Amino acid sequence: MNIDIQDKFDHLDEILKSKEFNKFEYETVLRELYPYRNDEYFKIAMKRLRQNNDIIRTECTMQGRVFQKKYGYAGDFELIDKIYTEYKSDESTHTQWDEYFHTQPGAIAVRNRKKYFIAKMKDLYFDGFTVLNLASGPCRDMYELFQSDTNKNFVFDCIELDNKAIEFSKELLSRYKVNFINKSILRFKPEKNYDVIWSAGLFDYFDDKTFVRILKRFIDQSKNAKVIIGNFAYNSSTVPYMELIGEWYLNYRSPDKLIELAIAAGATKNRITIESEPEQMNLFLNIN
Ligand SMILES: C[S@@+](CC[C@H](N)C(=O)[O-])C[C@H]1O[C@@H](n2cnc3c(N)ncnc32)[C@H](O)[C@@H]1O
Repeated sequence: MNIDIQDKFDHLDEILKSKEFNKFEYETVLRELYPYRNDEYFKIAMKRLRQNNDIIRTECTMQGRVFQKKYGYAGDFELIDKIYTEYKSDESTHTQWDEYFHTQPGAIAVRNRKKYFIAKMKDLYFDGFTVLNLASGPCRDMYELFQSDTNKNFVFDCIELDNKAIEFSKELLSRYKVNFINKSILRFKPEKNYDVIWSAGLFDYFDDKTFVRILKRFIDQSKNAKVIIGNFAYNSSTVPYMELIGEWYLNYRSPDKLIELAIAAGATKNRITIESEPEQMNLFLNIN
């Protein structure tokens, strides 16, 4: 038995069971445990900790939902929508955990990217404007865009792998006309030209090779489209929480890395800019 790691797990167990949530101690112990995350002993102790603490295993809390992966993959439409709408449990012992979750840079960055999306679409809009949305998820961003400007005629085609996400979105967008294609991006080839190709919350799950291959396909086929790809940047203050508690892993990328991958996909350097939301965590590769 590794006494050092077990001490930290005992402490974590106390924090999770305590009625008074201590943010500083929670973050400290997670940061201390992070270097051990690949140890066999760590994995066994973590499994035991989850079994003893529903709040990091079941959908009674947001962090439990992240770990649970109800639809079989990380970042499903329901979870993302609950981040957008800042869902909190009514159960008083769980609310504090959800409040903590929603103050995490990653959750704030997701909500900021919805604002970024809405501002971007309004800014780029012109009559006859068409958008291809890759991995549209819950479509909360589109819903709020439509609600915020009823005079504009946004035309969206959405590609989404999860049929349940499409069902959810169709209901949310029932008053609006949106086209959904239930297909994997990995196999999708656009049959028409778009003014904008948008994707958030997808490319950060791709390795570099897949990132370049998929981006190249869209650059080659829609030469005049503006392409906007979201990708999270590494943030050391929140990654231990996301990975240890949520088992939510992303391919974090820096602005330089995104530029390198865009060039490898065939974009010319002077067409590339990197933007960000205020939290500086969700970066946006723009190819103009
Ligand atoms: C993190 S969500 C992002 C949703 C949305 N773009 C947003 O920003 O709110 C990721 C979505 O990608 C979808 N997805 C994952 N892999 C996909 C693939 N290969 N093709 C199409 N959709 C995919 C998932 O089903 C999920 O709805």
